[in-house]
Parts: sequence; structure tokens; C-alpha cells
Amino acid sequence: MVKVGIIGVGVMGAGHARFIKAHVPGAEVVGLFDIDSAKVSSLANELGTVKVQTNDVAELMNHPEVEAIIIASPDPFHVEHLRAAIASKKPTLCEKPIATNIEEAREIAQEIRNYEKSIGKRMINFGFMRRFDPAYREVKRLIETGDFGKPTFFRTITRNVSSTGATTPGLYTNIAIHDFDIFRWLFNDEWVSVQSHYPRNSTMSQPGVADPLVITAFMKSGIMMVGDIVAFNNYGYDARAEIVCEKGSIEIGINGDVVTRVNRLMGAHTGGSMAENWMPRFETSYIEELRAWISSIESGTTNSDLATVDDALAANEVCALGVASI
Ligand SMILES: NC(=O)c1ccc[n+]([C@@H]2O[C@H](COP(=O)([O-])OP(=O)(O)OC[C@H]3O[C@@H](n4cnc5c(N)ncnc54)[C@H](O)[C@@H]3O)[C@@H](O)[C@H]2O)c1
Repeated sequence: MVKVGIIGVGVMGAGHARFIKAHVPGAEVVGLFDIDSAKVSSLANELGTVKVQTNDVAELMNHPEVEAIIIASPDPFHVEHLRAAIASKKPTLCEKPIATNIEEAREIAQEIRNYEKSIGKRMINFGFMRRFDPAYREVKRLIETGDFGKPTFFRTITRNVSSTGATTPGLYTNIAIHDFDIFRWLFNDEWVSVQSHYPRNSTMSQPGVADPLVITAFMKSGIMMVGDIVAFNNYGYDARAEIVCEKGSIEIGINGDVVTRVNRLMGAHTGGSMAENWMPRFETSYIEELRAWISSIESGTTNSDLATVDDALAANEVCALGVASI
């Protein structure tokens, strides 16, 4: 049983805790840290397994009951909490992004590489959970069959109902970063350029934020991305993708259903109600990511789909290209 401590118990931290309790038999949440003590005590009461409740990060990290750590604090605190994780020498799963700007991302990435080299194994993974999503995995499988021919370009959509504290650079480092990681993983390719485009600004958004943001980007192979990010869409969480290949199209719908168009045959998506945020759509991905992380700790063997420091930095490097294009 791996005993886990969680830093930040908002939507993601509490989500991870609930997923562990319900779906990851090899792990137990024993420690919680948040600057909001009310959130800590309410989640601790709900879980019934928590032994350490604190508003001091060092106390959580160094507590003998805590064997592994999840960082789910807001983006600007990840670097500080990653440094605490390095000092604790405990296996860590940190939510994306590794940092909110490229200088800090490169600096902390180098510290993590030095640390992992000194220990001789991977110690820190990052929360790019789409790698564990059944839909993206099915798309990877379908492309690998060769039946669709080579991918040429793809469309990708991430539209939040609301995005508290959104900034234009944050549309890259907080939201589009998932696209940059998942398509790098899916196509086994690297990004080379990113361009920002600005449709008419939404009055639903916060002043000063370039919302919606349309992104075009190219990979080494020539595969092109046309993506849109909407921080405040007012209608329901909407994440979709369509990979246009030479001989067919493969689409991931809002419910995570994979639909193809090939040989004059088309699938159809399911309709229905829409969720407020990403948790229902990516529930399986979070659970599978947690299972992979816990079993890599138990077995001492790395799971190659868990994002490493190099993957996390690569995603931030592409975000930096995007931010530079704003
Ligand atoms: N992988 C994904 O799909 C995904 C989805 C959403 C969010 N995230 C990431 O997860 C992280 C948390 O996002 P969220 O949606 O849960 O945010 P949230 O605002 O719901 O929760 C953040 C929590 O951190 C606490 N907090 C604030 N300052 C802190 C500090 N200095 N130390 C510790 N805790 C602090 C807040 O009180 C809050 O409880 C972010 O980095 C975000 O980018 C990842």
C-alpha cells in the first residue's frame, strides 16, 4: 500500500484523492496540505484515511506516514513544490505545467534531471493524463493500422465553461499544453512552430484575455495543428479532436467516443447533456494515470506513458513558442 500525500486539494487534488480511494487499491491518501484548512478538514472527513492534515508543506513532505506526493497546487506554485519534492526524495506526480514561464521551466527541469541522475531512477512524473485516455489510445491504434494513411493535419478543441484567473499566456501554459503533449505522444513527433490568431473577442471572457484563441502549429513531419481554446464558453465543457489522414478521418467526440469516416462509411457521435468541467470526460484517464504511477512506484519499473521531466519541459517549450507569438 503506497501512502500518498496531496498538495492542494481543489478540483484536481480532491479528484485525485477520490479516484485513489475508489479505484486504486494499491494506494491510500494519508496526508493533505492546502492553504485553505477548511478544504483539508472537509476532504479528510470524507476520505476517512487521512492522518496528516496541515497547512505547512514541509510537514506533509517530511512526514514519515507520507511515502509519495501529488502536487495539485495552482500552476505558479509548482516550481516551489517540485523543489520540496526533490528535498523529500519521495516519488511525485505533479500536475501540469512544470512552470508558468520558460526560464523557470528550464531551471527546475535541470534540477530534476540532476536529482534523478543522482538517485539513478525516475522520481517525478507529470499529469499529462490524456496519454491514458481510451479515446486517444484508440486513435493511436487506428493510425498504426495504416488503414487511414498518414496523418496530414488535425483540429483540436478545448473549451472551458469558465477558467478562473485566465491570462492570454495561461491559455497556452494551462490549457493548450495538453494538446502539445498529447499530439507529440500520439505522433511521436516534435513541435517546430506555433502561431496565435485572434477571432472576435468574447464578451463572456475576462477583460484583456485573448479569448477565443486560435492556434496553428507545425510538427517536424509537417503535420499541422489547427486548435481553438475558449476560456469561457458558457455552454458546457467541450474537448474534441479530429485527425485528418490521407484516406480517412478519425474524430474524438465530446463524450470521448471515437468516430471514423473511411471507405464511404461514417460513424456518428452521441448527444446528451454537457459537463461543467473536464473531470467526467477524463475520469478514466486520471484513474489509469494514477494506477500506472502507483504500480511504477511499487514495482520500481517506469511506465513509458507516464510523462517525464523531458516531456513536461518539451510541452512548456512549445508553449513558449506560442507565448512569443502572442
Ligand atoms: N491534468 C488535468 O487535466 C488538469 C485539469 C485541471 C487542472 N490541472 C492542474 O491542477 C492544478 C490545480 O488545479 P485545480 O483546478 O485543482 O485548481 P483549484 O483552484 O480548484 O485548486 C487549487 C487548490 O490549491 C490551493 N492552494 C492555493 N495556493 C496554494 C499553495 N501555495 N500551496 C498549496 N495549495 C494552494 C487552493 O486553496 C486550492 O484548494 C493546476 O496546476 C492545474 O493546471 C490539471
